[in-house]
Amino acid sequence: MDEQELRDTKSLATFSMTLCPSLSLDLCQLNNTGNHGTTVWDSAKVLAFYLMDTIKRPSWTMVDGKLELQNTKKCIELGSGCGLGGLTMAALGFDTVMTDLPSVVEHVLQVNKQRNERHIKDWWYQLLEQSTHDSTMTLQNPRVGVKSLDWLQYSADPEKCTTVDPPYNYILAADCIYCTEVLPPLLQSCWNLASPTTTILVALEHRDDIVVNAFVEKAKEFGFDPRMVPSKQLRTEVIGNEDIEIWKLKKKRSK
Ligand SMILES: C[S@@+](CC[C@H](N)C(=O)[O-])C[C@H]1O[C@@H](n2cnc3c(N)ncnc32)[C@H](O)[C@@H]1O
Repeated sequence: MDEQELRDTKSLATFSMTLCPSLSLDLCQLNNTGNHGTTVWDSAKVLAFYLMDTIKRPSWTMVDGKLELQNTKKCIELGSGCGLGGLTMAALGFDTVMTDLPSVVEHVLQVNKQRNERHIKDWWYQLLEQSTHDSTMTLQNPRVGVKSLDWLQYSADPEKCTTVDPPYNYILAADCIYCTEVLPPLLQSCWNLASPTTTILVALEHRDDIVVNAFVEKAKEFGFDPRMVPSKQLRTEVIGNEDIEIWKLKKKRSK
């Protein structure tokens, strides 16, 4: 899919997102479910490019005669929708769990996980061949899971939730900040899932100053240190939406 075609994908039943010349993800969408999560939003596209541009490619090491990913880090995506962010992290070798409300999991997220495991593995074989000139070795499957997780329930009672296993090295959320009501449960969920070294990447479309300013203020109140990623590091021009921002949050050392 060329750049022009990446700009208007919402009406398509499936589209292909080329993250680098040898890796394209195949995303299935449903635009008649009444839930915003069953189509891919621009924030997710910009976030996926940012992850590909800034995180190093996966590599493998031989352990007891078997190839093992060198990346032992964990990632969770909140409000995954079609799963573009989480699938990108899985492709980069992270042990990843993609989460959303049960209907989104059922309609698109599970389907997209299954559709893309093969694409990710094919890319891994290409990377392996480039580095070792040997593609006959057997690689493990991408480590990617799908779980239902409602921020309202999880933020209210994290102990009850066996779906997740914090802390995570990375937490992603794309286009999950669209009104002020979501801020307390979403930020509380991030707080519960993070350690002091966790990187939280929140991609959003800057539609309303009130919502974005409230997000930054609320994040500070929670004890995060929110910083906006410089816009020159984002491939917003590829999708034709200059309003996308990525915010990086870390827990402050002392609240
Ligand atoms: C605008 S969509 C973004 C989807 C996807 N991240 C993307 O950017 O393409 C917002 C997502 O947040 C999810 N969401 C909203 N409220 C939620 C809640 N309380 N718990 C979990 N997910 C929620 C929705 O189901 C939806 O998938």
